[in-house]
Amino acid sequence: MAEADFSKKEKNFYTDIPQKSEAFFLKGSNAYDWGMKNRLARIFSPRSGKTVMLAFDHGYFQGPTTGLERVDVTIRPLIPYADALMLTRGILRTVIEPSSTNAVVMRASGGPSILKELSNEHIAVDIEDALRMNVSAMAVQVFIGGPHETQTVNNMTRLVDMGMRYGMPVLGVTAVGTELVRDVRYISLATRILAELGASMVKTYFVPGFEQVAAACPVPIVIAGGKKLPEREALQMAHDAINQGASGVDMGRNIFQSDSPVAMIGAVRKVVHDNSSVKEAYQYYEEMKNRK
Ligand code: R5P
Repeated sequence: MAEADFSKKEKNFYTDIPQKSEAFFLKGSNAYDWGMKNRLARIFSPRSGKTVMLAFDHGYFQGPTTGLERVDVTIRPLIPYADALMLTRGILRTVIEPSSTNAVVMRASGGPSILKELSNEHIAVDIEDALRMNVSAMAVQVFIGGPHETQTVNNMTRLVDMGMRYGMPVLGVTAVGTELVRDVRYISLATRILAELGASMVKTYFVPGFEQVAAACPVPIVIAGGKKLPEREALQMAHDAINQGASGVDMGRNIFQSDSPVAMIGAVRKVVHDNSSVKEAYQYYEEMKNRK
């Protein structure tokens, strides 16, 4: 039964305090609805505006990648250090604890394996299943300049339309085929096209001149790590990307193939969230690696 408000305390409507109406912290995201913003705020820290996304979706086209042979053994210890997990629905359901509180960015395109033409991808997840798994974003590979360019752009725009219906952001991933040069001109072209066509955020590679890429892209960019580098070089790359306008990293091999993955993800966090110098972050990595 409803109870009357019998409190003796005088009501206070704080009539002298105007209700705050603040802009959303994330680049290019202010016009979205509440659910979309809430999902983005699970991926990007509202404190730093940045994210450390741990990418381990490589198996969707290349099978048991080095370091991912047993995701349950090698990736689970890293989960507490990641803001967001980028993975496939197969790995999410089979290996990841439903009690984990990380944001999930789900790989939503696929089709060809490394044995075939990689750009021949299709949408690989129904949005209803993504919602069922409570994911924070769907990720789709787009092959600008690739043999199936239009098909992959269409995959993305269809996911964006579905995402808009339910408040689900889409991460557009610029995929570079073997025949294309990864330079500032190409990366600017690809990232801008993805943002113009509705991606809420874009993942791409760090290239010299990245500042221009970030400036010309109206949505947040996260950088992929790419193939394994010595730890200090990978931290340098993350540092340069953040200082030139990236909103975070979506890093895989440079973390899970490191000599000490836990130390490395911690060092990456320092660069991304705490503005640490490369020297400080690398020192942290060395200390953590040598800790027994
Ligand atoms: C690769 O196909 C996946 O999309 C990865 O998520 C992406 O390349 C990032 O991983 P890495 O840092 O290993 O390049």
